[in-house]
Amino acid sequence: MERKLIIAANWKMNKGPAETVEFIEAFLPGAEELSEKCDIVIAPPYVSIPAAAALLADSVVALSSQNVSDQDAGAFTGEVSTGMLNEVGARYVILGHSERRAIYGESDQFINAKVQKVLAAGIRPIFCIGETLEERESGKLEEVLRTQVSGGLADLTVEHMTDVVVAYEPVWAIGTGVTATPDQAQEAHAFVRTLIEEQFGKEVAATTRIQYGGSVKSGNSAELMAQRDIDGALVGGASLEAVSFRDLIANAVA
Ligand code: 13P
Repeated sequence: MERKLIIAANWKMNKGPAETVEFIEAFLPGAEELSEKCDIVIAPPYVSIPAAAALLADSVVALSSQNVSDQDAGAFTGEVSTGMLNEVGARYVILGHSERRAIYGESDQFINAKVQKVLAAGIRPIFCIGETLEERESGKLEEVLRTQVSGGLADLTVEHMTDVVVAYEPVWAIGTGVTATPDQAQEAHAFVRTLIEEQFGKEVAATTRIQYGGSVKSGNSAELMAQRDIDGALVGGASLEAVSFRDLIANAVA
């Protein structure tokens, strides 16, 4: 089953509107050719999304936010709704990132509410899962991934799943420079695919794209993407510089 690669830049809390414009102007040349083999997504901070949208409107690059509210409107200080994201042209939302889970205490149930909200708004969730080093070393890898997948994707339909991208990001590989080996990543991805199969059946499992995240860079993107069950990347640090992010994608599709 052919699954098109999807590589997304998660800028985290980096780049205001000015730096966003600078990046996109440098990144866009050549992006069209790369997009034949790979969907490209950029997730700036909320305030930079309108500046990015103005430049990306007729481009091959899709816009994402890094979070969203589980509510529609009202007294929720500091929150942003799916309606607002639709208005500014965000097509994806990153949900369940380990930083949201660990620093802001987001639970599987809360993440699930957001996943459902996003799907109802016609936006695509990039749903993140992954274990800590302690969980991996104490033999809990499968249990953790099972809980995150069943909780985060609870009550979704097979139709919903066509819009869902899963991102496996081992917490110990995020921002550390330590990447999972291609074998380690492949093994976890294959397991995640079996979890999706248990929950949604063979066809959904065969077509759902699973990104790897955690210290992906231009030097390792090719061997990671060559793995059977790795269908893209969610990139933090190495997505902050336009030319090296383009190289990362170019190596991945080569
Ligand atoms: P790094 O690529 O900086 O390790 O970050 C990965 C990540 O968390 C992407 O969401």
